[in-house]
Amino acid sequence: MLPLVRTAHDFRRACQEARLDGPLALVPTMGYLHEGHISLIRAARQAAPTVAATIFVNPAQFAPHEDLQRYPRDMEGDLRKCEAAGASFVFAPSGPEEMYPPGFQTYVDPGPLAQPLCGASRPGHFRGVCTVVAKLFALSRAECAFFGEKDYQQLLVIRRMAHDLNLGTDVVGRPIVREKDGLALSSRNAYLSSEERPRALGLWRALSEARARFAAGERDVPTLERAVAETLDRHGLRADYAELRDPVELQRPAQADGSTRLFIAAFAGKTRLIDNGALGEAG
Ligand code: PAF
Repeated sequence: MLPLVRTAHDFRRACQEARLDGPLALVPTMGYLHEGHISLIRAARQAAPTVAATIFVNPAQFAPHEDLQRYPRDMEGDLRKCEAAGASFVFAPSGPEEMYPPGFQTYVDPGPLAQPLCGASRPGHFRGVCTVVAKLFALSRAECAFFGEKDYQQLLVIRRMAHDLNLGTDVVGRPIVREKDGLALSSRNAYLSSEERPRALGLWRALSEARARFAAGERDVPTLERAVAETLDRHGLRADYAELRDPVELQRPAQADGSTRLFIAAFAGKTRLIDNGALGEAG
């Protein structure tokens, strides 16, 4: 049975002990694990003899009107998946007060990388993400931590935080895992009705459309973004944003090149989905 740690104190102790045997790899998650998370745990297992997975639906990264209460949860299933994927133990705080005890008042304030895209649509989101991840890094003192590229902006923001604050944890990004038809795996896909699921594919189709136009020679940013918006529209998706940005600083490029990334957030009904990818990458 996979060891399950419920307190920050025990998590610190478990990580301290694990580090006596060599490097420790961390895989922070919010649970309801899918193949994307599993691929992170497997990659972490390749990098270090001990892998600590964490499962915590972090209230600090949700706005009051967002889906904190109904975020899908399946602790038993998650523990089974963590064990099968090669995690050594799991830290699942017993409640929010384990990470945010009474009197908690110190937050991490990320910089410009956290401002556009999801940062603009979800004010305070990355402050919450950085705060909880900084705490997990401080408790674990892991050599490396694994994050999926589906949340590409999150990956950049966390990597910059770890660098700027000398946290000592190497932040590793791993490719998006997709369904056979192209839909990026996400715990929030569980919200999609049978009518919304085919529409959700519009994000992947929009990314594929942009890549096809880029491959055919189109380099004009507004033209590419217009094609993306039209594809989302055709699928009955309400775009939150659909923008081309450079992959390092998330600035708007004057012209697209192969490394330019398309970032999409769109609503299928009430469900907000995100996806992204480089224009020059094969679909
Ligand atoms: O990507 C997520 O699941 C969360 O944002 C993270 C990194 C685990 C922080 O709560």
